[in-house]
Amino acid sequence: MRSKIVAGNWKMNKNLGETKVLLTELSAKLPETQAEVMVAPTAVNLASAVTQLGSSTIQVIAQNMHFAENGAYTGEISADMLLAVGVDTVIIGHSERRAYFGETDEILAKKVAAALAKNMRVMFCFGEELEDRRSVNHFNVVESQLKNALFTLDAADWSKIILAYEPVWAIGTGETASPEQAQEMHAFIRKTITEAYDEGVANNVSILYGGSVKPANAVEIFSKPDVDGGLIGGASLVADDFVAIIEAIG
Ligand code: G3P
Repeated sequence: MRSKIVAGNWKMNKNLGETKVLLTELSAKLPETQAEVMVAPTAVNLASAVTQLGSSTIQVIAQNMHFAENGAYTGEISADMLLAVGVDTVIIGHSERRAYFGETDEILAKKVAAALAKNMRVMFCFGEELEDRRSVNHFNVVESQLKNALFTLDAADWSKIILAYEPVWAIGTGETASPEQAQEMHAFIRKTITEAYDEGVANNVSILYGGSVKPANAVEIFSKPDVDGGLIGGASLVADDFVAIIEAIG
């Protein structure tokens, strides 16, 4: 049975002190939930966040990692460095990494392989641009992103994969995909995985929606059968909003 997941991608926000304050508030207000709850502080604050949350059910995850074991990659972070501070789940392929840091499908496939080689969980992000949707090419784009980065994996690897569909035109814009649009694409993603592997793999992978999820729209988006939760940006930086979104998933 696939997990329900609500994850907060903090992006480049919250210094050390602000991270501690937000995590204290979030811990105090965390509701009862069947969902996995994850937060992705910026890399410099991961170790502190893991220590602060201790035995909390809130999981600390990373926003990115490099594919190399170690070496001359100034500014980068390896899987082992994340594992050493207690982080075993990593976001890979966020659209901002693709757009601003030139992360191609080939690079992302290497990052996924490197994370899986260390038995980490991977939250793989993908999604179309506005012009792809306007030209009704969004299904082709999403299928290509999945195939190029993930479809060389063995079926067993998929137990470590979380998918996050994030239409780029909905990220940070307040322009959320409608629940129907989200369900349509999530169902397509699950069908694509079924065809590439089998129903067992497809039905056991959690597919999260990301892109302007807010307390006001979360209940309806999460009510869709192929939406297994959300990857939340802006709203995850405000404890009350993130708590409301967690409550929305039940
Ligand atoms: O990774 C989640 C993020 O891209 C969504 O951002 O602010 O639209 O919720 P936001």
